[in-house]
Amino acid sequence: MLRRLHPDQPDSFEFTPANLEWAKAQITKYPEGRQQSAIIPVLWRAQEQEGWLSRPAIEYCADLLGMPHIRALEVATFYFMFQLQPVGSVANIQICGTTSCMICGAEDLIEICKRRIAPSPHTLSADGKFSWEEVECLGACANAPMAQIGKDYYEDLTPAKLEALIDAFSEGKVPLPGPQNGRFASEPASGLTSLEDHGGGGGDLNASAALARQFGETVKRIDGTEAPILTRWLKSDRRTEAAPAGGATGSEASADEAEDTGRRPEGLDAPRDGGADNLKMIKGVGPKLEKLLNKLGFWHFDQIASWGPEELAWVDANLEGFKGRASRDDWAGQAKILAEGGETEFSARAERDDRYDEE
Ligand code: FES
Repeated sequence: MLRRLHPDQPDSFEFTPANLEWAKAQITKYPEGRQQSAIIPVLWRAQEQEGWLSRPAIEYCADLLGMPHIRALEVATFYFMFQLQPVGSVANIQICGTTSCMICGAEDLIEICKRRIAPSPHTLSADGKFSWEEVECLGACANAPMAQIGKDYYEDLTPAKLEALIDAFSEGKVPLPGPQNGRFASEPASGLTSLEDHGGGGGDLNASAALARQFGETVKRIDGTEAPILTRWLKSDRRTEAAPAGGATGSEASADEAEDTGRRPEGLDAPRDGGADNLKMIKGVGPKLEKLLNKLGFWHFDQIASWGPEELAWVDANLEGFKGRASRDDWAGQAKILAEGGETEFSARAERDDRYDEE
């Protein structure tokens, strides 16, 4: 999966005084000349402050450590732990989709996320409170299927239990993490077989769940507040039109019925006089997608520029093999600039290099 910086970026970033103090203290842990080794904890703190890493945040961290911006960008774009786009103000739900979890029902959990949060990962829900993504093994395979929500693991999930968790988070509650089926930890589901007790020291919660209860929170940002529902510069049309609570089930919302998602934009049978625009000037559109867009009746920048959230949802769902691409790369925003005769950073480069970014 390609990991790119989000098309909407804030103008600036700076640590809160407390976080700056914390970061400076971390830097002193490293020998003279090796301060750059603090890049991961410093980036992580920036992410904890904002919920995700913007370009100004990454560059700020690089400056703090006296390293070239590109080195910090390399780290931030390499590791999946770093979110490169806004996440839900309450929670980004990370569903493990690796073998054990997949066999035990991760795909059903993903369907719940698609229905309750957004059809595509890394997309904000309609209320801005949630986002979701599929991640690789989180090391809790004995409690599959599971999800990381905030700082904690919610294990032994079922679709109904995940829905109940989303409901609880929506209401401002913080459900107790750990196994959600009554297990203490990862002992056999049928109960202990050889050991006399589960080693919990008599408590009813395993160490991790007990610690979470002690903190009393798992999804709050480090300053104890939610991030703004929508970061002030984030366009509202980036939020997803969520299905109603009693809407389609996960299976009903399958790819087979993707064309029912959103609203089909009006297309043309053929390009207008003067010929079609070169849609490959839009970042994320290569020869294959240009062909597909033409097939769907889209030939011109102004057509794409007119798409609202409903139309984008339809297009996203109908990009065979490239689902979600239109929103992810902000085709409508790019097309608007191009339709008005302007150029984007990508279009200028694409024209120069004759290089398109689709694969
Ligand atoms: S496979 Fe899901 S936690 Fe390991």
